[in-house]
Amino acid sequence: MQVLVTGGTGYIGSHTIVELINHGYDVVCVDDFSNSKPIVLDNLKKITGKDINFYELNVCDKEKLRKVFKENKIDAVIHFAGFKAVGESVAKPLMYYRNNLDSTITLLEVMNEFKVKKIVFSSSATVYGDPEILPIPETAKLHTTNPYGSTKLYIEEILKDVYISDNDYSIAILRYFNPIGAHPSGLLGEDPSDIPNNLMPYIVKVANHELPHLNVFGNDYDTKDGTGVRDYIHVIDLALGHISALEYIDKHKGIDYYNLGTGKGYSVLEMVSAFSDVNKVSVPYRITARRDGDIATCYADTKKAKEILHWEAKYDLNEMVESAYNFAKKNSDKNE
Ligand code: WQD
Repeated sequence: MQVLVTGGTGYIGSHTIVELINHGYDVVCVDDFSNSKPIVLDNLKKITGKDINFYELNVCDKEKLRKVFKENKIDAVIHFAGFKAVGESVAKPLMYYRNNLDSTITLLEVMNEFKVKKIVFSSSATVYGDPEILPIPETAKLHTTNPYGSTKLYIEEILKDVYISDNDYSIAILRYFNPIGAHPSGLLGEDPSDIPNNLMPYIVKVANHELPHLNVFGNDYDTKDGTGVRDYIHVIDLALGHISALEYIDKHKGIDYYNLGTGKGYSVLEMVSAFSDVNKVSVPYRITARRDGDIATCYADTKKAKEILHWEAKYDLNEMVESAYNFAKKNSDKNE
C-alpha cells in the first residue's frame, strides 16, 4: 500500500514516516520546508535505510500535486501539512485560513480526480476549546478560540461534507493532545528555529542554556499546583496511532474522530520536575502572568481509539522527557 504523507519532513510527519516504513508501507512525501529542514530526509534514510520518494512543494500548488498523483499510485493520504502556531494565527488569520484551508481543499480535489478516497487527517484537541467535561470524549462540544484551531475545525467540517457527498470515502480524523519527545536515535525531534511557543521545546532550550529560564504562564489555575495541566503524548505513540488509523480505514468506509492522548494530565511544574530529575539538569523558571487563551486543564478520554483502532499510548513521561533532551543534546552540538 502506498501512502502520500503531506508535511512529511515535519516533527510528527517524519516520525510517522519511520513507522510507516517499519510497517511495510511505501511512502511518498511532500513538503515545502516552511517548518522543517531538508536534513530530515537524510536522517529518515539513516533510520530506515530507505531513500524517501520526496517532492518539494506546497500542497496549495495543484499542478505540482497532480504530478505526484500522476507519477505514483497513491492508495491513501496522511495529511499533516499546515501552519500550527496558535499565537501566529491570531496575528495573521488570513495567512492561516489561506494556507491550511486552501491546501486541504486542493488535496481533496486532486484525491477525488485520482479516485483516492482514504485519508487520515491531523486535527487537534484545540477544537475542544475549554472543555466542560474531563477526560474529554470525542462527543464533547467543539469550540475554538483562535484561527489555528478554527482551521482544524473547519477542515473537520469539510471532510464531513465530502463524506456526505460520497459514502465511498474512508476518513479518520485524529485529535492530537500535546505531542512531545523524539526518536531514540536522536536524529528526529522537535526543532523549532525561533523561540518556541510550546512548553517542552522551551524547557529543552533552557536546559541547554540557550534560554535563561522558563516563564511559567500562571500558577493560579484551579489545578493540583495552580499551573496548567495537559495530556502529553510521546510522538512515537502518536505516529503509531496513524498506522492503526490507516489499517482501520483500509477496511472500513465512513468518517470518525479519535482522541490521541494518554488520558493522563501533568502540570507545568510536574513537567519541569520530571525533565530535571530524569535528565539531571536544572530548569530555572519564573512564575509569570497567564498566557491569553490558555485553559486550565485538558486531557483525553482514550477509550474510543483503544476500542476501535486497537491503539493506546505506551511510552511514559520519563521516556518522553529523556528522548526530548537526548535529541536536543545531539543537535545542539551540531549547531555549535
Ligand atoms: C502547555 C502548557 C502553558 C509554554 C498548543 C496548541 C495545540 C497543540 C499543542 C498544535 C500550558 C504552559 C507553555 C511556556 C508555559 N499544537 N507553558 N510556558 O497550549 O496546551 O497546546 O500546543 O496542534 O493546538 O494549542 O501547549 O506547550 O503551548 O502549553 O507555562 O513557555 O505549558 O500555559 O499550560 P498547549 P503548550
